[in-house]
Amino acid sequence: MDKIIVLDFGSQTTQLIGRRIRDMGVYSEVIPGDTPLTDEILNSNGKGPDKVRGIILSGSPESVYTKEGAVPDQKIYTLGLPLLGICYGLQRMNYDQSGKVEPLSKREYGRIGVKINSKNSITNIITNSDVKNSNTVNSDLVARFLAGFAPSFTAWMSHGDTLTTLADGFREYGISDTGYPAVVIHDTKPWFGLQFHPEVTHCEGGDEILKAFVFGVCGATAGWTMEQYVEEVRASLAKRVGNNPVLLLISGGVDSTVAGALLLKTLKSDQVHLMYMDTGLMRKDETKTVKTTLEKLGARHLHIIYCEEEFLGALKGLEEPEAKRRAIGDLFITIQEREVARLGLPDSYFLAQGTLYTDLIESGKGVGKKAHLIKSHHNVGSPLVDAKRKLGRIIEPLDKLYKDEVRRLGRIIGVDEEVVCRHPFPGPGLAVRILGEVTKEKCDILRDADALYIEELKRRGFYDEIWQAFAVLLPIRSVGVAGDVRKYGWVLALRAITSADGMTADVYPFPTKDLLEISTLITNTVKDIGRVTYDISSKPPATIEWE
Ligand code: XMP
Repeated sequence: MDKIIVLDFGSQTTQLIGRRIRDMGVYSEVIPGDTPLTDEILNSNGKGPDKVRGIILSGSPESVYTKEGAVPDQKIYTLGLPLLGICYGLQRMNYDQSGKVEPLSKREYGRIGVKINSKNSITNIITNSDVKNSNTVNSDLVARFLAGFAPSFTAWMSHGDTLTTLADGFREYGISDTGYPAVVIHDTKPWFGLQFHPEVTHCEGGDEILKAFVFGVCGATAGWTMEQYVEEVRASLAKRVGNNPVLLLISGGVDSTVAGALLLKTLKSDQVHLMYMDTGLMRKDETKTVKTTLEKLGARHLHIIYCEEEFLGALKGLEEPEAKRRAIGDLFITIQEREVARLGLPDSYFLAQGTLYTDLIESGKGVGKKAHLIKSHHNVGSPLVDAKRKLGRIIEPLDKLYKDEVRRLGRIIGVDEEVVCRHPFPGPGLAVRILGEVTKEKCDILRDADALYIEELKRRGFYDEIWQAFAVLLPIRSVGVAGDVRKYGWVLALRAITSADGMTADVYPFPTKDLLEISTLITNTVKDIGRVTYDISSKPPATIEWE
């Protein structure tokens, strides 16, 4: 099978590159940027020969001229394989070939125009026909690459450095509206570079550019499907787990439900123990729904632990978001240890989690381990999980997938559409949606308000258009009137976003009428809510959850 390798230098969007390529049906593997490129990596994925068709060098939060900037195995420049450098990846290639990279006086961030082939504005840019007629060794490949570009388009950039002197052989084929090299290609080697991020949905025509590289330049053929992924998981689980029991912690969200379904589908159902903790931080009627769903999927050992009091006790007095996350994470592990002991599973049991790639990236544990910490997701960092990981006894069958891929997988393995389409729900539950201290009273208020909101979105036909919607209880009370009486109610924020994967998000543009009606319904029904606001922040700069 044809394969594209993505070298991960730690950009928050590295996995998106790999994912976009898999979406095109081409197998891609993301590996740490400084991995030695052994024959094994270049020739096999453990299932017989793979043909590496090209290598992509990702972005990075670091600079090429500092010691933190990871260096690829210099063999990449002698393999004769097509290379595509993205942002840091381009700077890396230029720097490694003795070009110059220097800091910008002001970091460039967001949507920035790029022009290709504009002879008038840049003298050293040549057109497609020029390329075909030119006598560079690369002219055919250059033409195939440039076929993926519109003459001008809006790209998405995030960089603090730029190329200031191109290395020998590199030529500029595109320039940003701010005057920096945006598309750079080598005259005689199949080396291509972009200063912007084609993998980000905000980059106009980004997919076409990646396709031009993958199919046009690398000549890859599509042969990668989700069905094949299930087969790979089945084979790797059979090899790792054998007949040992597997314990999966179910949160009630799409990810852990699909992970559970995948385990039930690929292992013997008697091997699979599903543990669900009703932490008291769940959505309304969650426990009932989870039970019905999992039993329908064939779960034989479903352990439901009621531990609301313990969680609320651990959260008492805590206001700081990371402290709340840590308290929840630790208690999860404590209860898990206690309950596992109670189950009497042997030490050899494997611990499974529905961790997605986004969870790993945002915890600074991306594949290349170079990403900066944004938040500590409870399901990634904990001593017991780390200990199990060291023992090689953690199973994270979704850790290479993004949310929409998990949904596709869920459908393939027979999870109900209603469950598959459910909006994502964070592991720490309502605790990240109640700002400040979490109490039972606040959980109940938020649960009622959130259930009303979601029910209305479904009734009004918005739910499936929205990637994630939820209510947030703010630690503020505000004055209002109810009847003729002064009311001092809580302020509720509604959030609804569109997104492809949770990495970036836009605000859902509700018709005003619906927002007003939903607001009135909530303040009329949930008596403790005095005021409703709508969050109009995109990600970035905001995150999806408020915390
Ligand atoms: P943020 O708020 O980081 O959220 O923009 C991105 C996506 O991740 C979900 N989320 C979590 N999921 N454990 C999870 O399993 C967590 O600790 C966690 N925190 C945030 C969030 O709901 C959104 O879909």
